[in-house]
Order: sequence, then structure tokens, then C-alpha cells
Amino acid sequence: MNTGADYSSGTTGATKPSLDADEAEGRVLTVLGLETSCDETAASVVRLSASGAEVLSSVIHSQIDEHAAFGGVVPEIAARSHVEMIDGVARRAMSEAGIDYAALDGVAATAGPGLVGGVMVGLSYGKAVALARDLPLIAVNHLEGHAVSARLGAETAYPFLLLLVSGGHCQLLEVRGIGDMSRLGTTIDDAAGEAFDKIAKAMGLGYPGGPALERLAASGDGSRFELPRALLGRKDCDFSFSGLKTAASRLAQTCETDQDKADLADAVQKAIARQLSERTERAMVAYAEQHEALHFVVAGGVAANKTIRRTLEDLAMKHGFSFLAPPMVYCTDNAAMIALAGAERLEKGLTSDIDVAARPRWPLDEARANADPVHKKTGRKGAKA
Ligand code: KG4
Ligand code: ZN
Repeated sequence: MNTGADYSSGTTGATKPSLDADEAEGRVLTVLGLETSCDETAASVVRLSASGAEVLSSVIHSQIDEHAAFGGVVPEIAARSHVEMIDGVARRAMSEAGIDYAALDGVAATAGPGLVGGVMVGLSYGKAVALARDLPLIAVNHLEGHAVSARLGAETAYPFLLLLVSGGHCQLLEVRGIGDMSRLGTTIDDAAGEAFDKIAKAMGLGYPGGPALERLAASGDGSRFELPRALLGRKDCDFSFSGLKTAASRLAQTCETDQDKADLADAVQKAIARQLSERTERAMVAYAEQHEALHFVVAGGVAANKTIRRTLEDLAMKHGFSFLAPPMVYCTDNAAMIALAGAERLEKGLTSDIDVAARPRWPLDEARANADPVHKKTGRKGAKA
């Protein structure tokens, strides 16, 4: 069994509340969060008080090396690895936080959406801790974790306009509070991160593709490549990346030199940034008609991309929105965001039954997703996004 030499741990950007003052003002909630929905086994302890969120520990074991040879995440390997790692990762998060289980107010675990074999591992572990320590269990939607992740670095007032861009999702949402979000737009095919990963794979860049493609793009000039622009005739806030993916993957076959590849990487990154920016601009205009306070947040793994961050920051400034993105370590999957979402739910009394089930699909705005499924074939598992 892996003893943890390849863990990453540490905290960043947390606002440090003064506990004495907070205890006088209101409740201080300390929550253990667990995340196992994809290829990271993660655990974190977060303390939420009137003055903000403090990350006491954040431990992440990445499985990247185990999946790299296959060019993507293999669900069976992921689930087995989570089983091996979860206990060590959770214990380490508790010891780095320097607290005993008696100091916890609740246990939060990702209950979906994601690879269900992995989700079940973290959720079952969370249930075991909740039962053994007589603590409330909070089943957290992984996307809700991303939605609150910017609050790990700075105070962020609700409501805000959110662009959630990860490997599996690409959505614009109005976030009014925990468990209270409306979808303004979503991808009708691939997610932005998926496009980065698949194009990078076609270019032979390895997995995960997003960071590799970003590094390569730094030395490229994409102006010689013409890439398709999706859904140009539509006035809504939906996204589509499959045409770009197909066109870029074909162009990848024609690249002969390293410079060709770098140029294509730059063109792809700019095309993805442009589409994200165009749809977000539409959403900002609509949002500004209905809100006085204009706050924009970008979250999810793709928010780690510096070109995309910069493009969106400029856009926010142009439309009078404040701009916020999570600290880099909380853009990609982590458990601090799950612990924080859990603490915010606990504060509202939104706890879960011990028999809550893991869900491979779990849209944030479930009513909208069921009424207007962008993926027409929802199947037995329900709407995807
Ligand atoms: O949020 P995340 O860790 O997992 C999901 O919930 O999907 O996002 C992972 C995705 C991957 O597709 C990865 O390629 C992408 O985020 N990503 C990036 C960058 N870092 C991660 N994409 C572009 N540029 C990056 N620097
Ligand atoms: Zn994620």
C-alpha cells in the first residue's frame, strides 16, 4: 500500500478567523470533507465561522501516474486506488489539522456526480466516520463544491454569476446560496476540460491534457490556424466544443514540427477562451439586468488556465463585475471545497440520511436539467447536466 509519500498537502489563501470573536458572534463549524469522484483521493478539514472559511488541512493523493499509460482515467483502477488510499489520506488530514474527531461538527463526502465506483468509496468512508463518531453526514454534490471553492480564498458574497469549467462540466449558473442555483447555460456536447484533454491526446501530449497544452501554447502563435466557432447563430448561453475537438484533432495529424504543435496549442487555447468569454458575456448582460451587485466567479479545473483567467477577468471588468477565481490549488479537484460546501449545508440544517446513495449523475439545477435536458437521451440514470 502506498504510504503517502506522493501526497500533496497544504493550505493557501485562507482567511484566518479569530475564534473567540466568532464564538461570541455565531456558530463555528468544523467539518471533515472527503472527495473521491474522479482520480484524486482527497480529505480536508475546514472551519467555517462568521469571518469566513479557514482550511485547517487539505490532503490530495493524485492517481495521475496510475492512469497516464491509458491516456485517461480508468474507472476500475480509480475505484481500487481510492479504497487503498482513503483511510491514510483522511487520517493525515485530521492529524495535519491538529484536531481530534471530537472537535468535528460533521462529515461531508462527495455523493456524485462522478465515477460511481469511486464516489461510493468516499461516501461509504464518510458514513462509517459519521456512524462511529455520532456526527451528521452531509452528502455533497461535487459541482456545488466547485461552486463554493472561490470562498476558500476570499470572502465572496452571494449571489454571484458562476462559470463552472471542469473536465466533465461547462455551465453558467446564478448562485444565490448553497443548494440554491439556476442554470443559465450548459454544454450541449463536450466540456471545456474534455476538449483540452482530447485534443492534447490527439497531439500526443499525455494526460491530463489541459496543463500540458497550456505549457506548449506559451511558445506558439496560433494565428495561422482557422478553427470552427460553435453555435454562432444562437443567442443563448450554451456551449459546444465537439466541432473544435474534431477539427483540432485532424490538424494535429498534420503537425510535423514542435513549432507546429505549439502553434496549434495556442490556437486551441484561444478558441476555447473565446467561446467561454462570448457565452459568459451574454450571461453577464442578462444577469446585470436583474441584479444590483455584480460578482463573477470562475471555478473548476479549467479555471487554472492563465489565458482563460485573464480573458474572463478583462470581460468582468468591461461589464462592471468583480472577478474572483479560487486559489490555483482549489481549482482542480480537492476536498476543502467539499468540506466547505458541507459546512455551509450544515449551517442551514441540510444534512443527509445515512442511507443516501451515490449518484453518477446529479445536476446542480435538477429541475431545469429534467425539464430541459441538453443531452436528449437522459436514460435511466437521469439528466446529465
Ligand atoms: O475540476 P477538475 O479537477 O475535475 C473535474 O471535476 O472534471 O478538472 C479537471 C480538468 C481536466 O480536463 C484538465 O485538463 C483541466 O481541468 N485543466 C486545465 C488546466 N488544469 C486543469 N485545462 C486547461 N488549462 C489548465 N492549466
Ligand atoms: Zn471537479
